[in-house]
Amino acid sequence: MSQSTLSVYPRGWFVVAFSSEIAVGQAKQLAYWGEKLVAFRGEDGAIRVLDAYCAHMGADLAGGKVVGNDIQCPFTRGSIAAPASASRSLREKIPLKARQRVWTAREINGVILVWHDSAGGAPDFDIPVIAEYGSADWLPWSEFMYSIKTHPREIIENIADRGHFPAVHRTEVLDFSVTIDRHMATQYTKGFAKLPGGGVDNFASTTTYHGPGYLIMKMDGALQNYMLVAHTPIDTNSLHLRMGVMLRSSATRRRPRGTSPNTWRTSNRIRRRHQDLGKQALPRDSHLL
Ligand code: FES
Ligand SMILES: [Fe+2]
Repeated sequence: MSQSTLSVYPRGWFVVAFSSEIAVGQAKQLAYWGEKLVAFRGEDGAIRVLDAYCAHMGADLAGGKVVGNDIQCPFTRGSIAAPASASRSLREKIPLKARQRVWTAREINGVILVWHDSAGGAPDFDIPVIAEYGSADWLPWSEFMYSIKTHPREIIENIADRGHFPAVHRTEVLDFSVTIDRHMATQYTKGFAKLPGGGVDNFASTTTYHGPGYLIMKMDGALQNYMLVAHTPIDTNSLHLRMGVMLRSSATRRRPRGTSPNTWRTSNRIRRRHQDLGKQALPRDSHLL
C-alpha cells in the first residue's frame, strides 16, 4: 500500500469542476478531501454544493432530482434546500433536518470552486475575475483534466523554478522573479521561444497562485493567452489537476485588414501549436504522464 503523502489538506479555494460539467438541472457527485460531495445547478443557474450523503439515512443525493433550486432526496423525495453561496455557518438555518452540510461554493471564470478549510474557517480571500473571460474576442477554455498520484507541493514548487524552462518548456528565460504577498505567489517571466517552424516568439508572463490550488497565468507574446492550472486533493495520495488554455481569438476569425493570407495562416498554426504545447507543458513539469 502506498504511503500517505499529505498530512493535512491545504486551506483555500479549489476547483471541483469546470462550469461546463454541470448543466442546469444536473447533479454531480464529487470526491475530494476524502469526502463525497454533490454539486447541482438550480433553475436560477447557481451552483450549490452539499455533502453527497443525505443526513437522514445516507441516500446519495447525486442520484436525486434537481427541482427548482433544491435537490430531492432519492429515498423520500423530500427537498433539500441549499441557498446558493451559503456558508457552513448558515447550515443550521437550512430546513431539511438541518444537518446537511453546505459547502461554500463560487463559480467564476468558467470554473466551480469550493472553499476548503479543515478547521471550518470562512473564506478570507477571493478569486479575481478574468475580465476577458466570456468576451467575444477570446475563445472559451480548452479544458483538460488529469488524475495524478502526487503531493500538491510537487506542482506548486514550479512557480519558483526557473531552471526547468529550457528543457521542459523549450524556452529561454531572460528575466525571472517571484513575489509572495499574503495568499498569492506570483512569478514574472520574460523570455523567448524558438518556434518549430522558424522564428522567435518573445513572451512575457505573469503567473499567480491564489492560495494553494488555483493558478492563473497571463502571457503576452505572438499570442495572448491565459492558462488555468487548478489542483484539488482527492485524498491524501492523489489529486485532480484541471488545466485550461484560453486564447485571444482574433487570429481565428476574419483575416485582419493588412494581414497577408500567409501571415494569417501562420498565426493560426501557431495558435493551434500553442494550445497543444499548453496541454503538454504542465504534466511535463511534474513528470506526470
Ligand atoms: S435519506 Fe431520508 S430524506 Fe434522504
Ligand atoms: Fe513549468
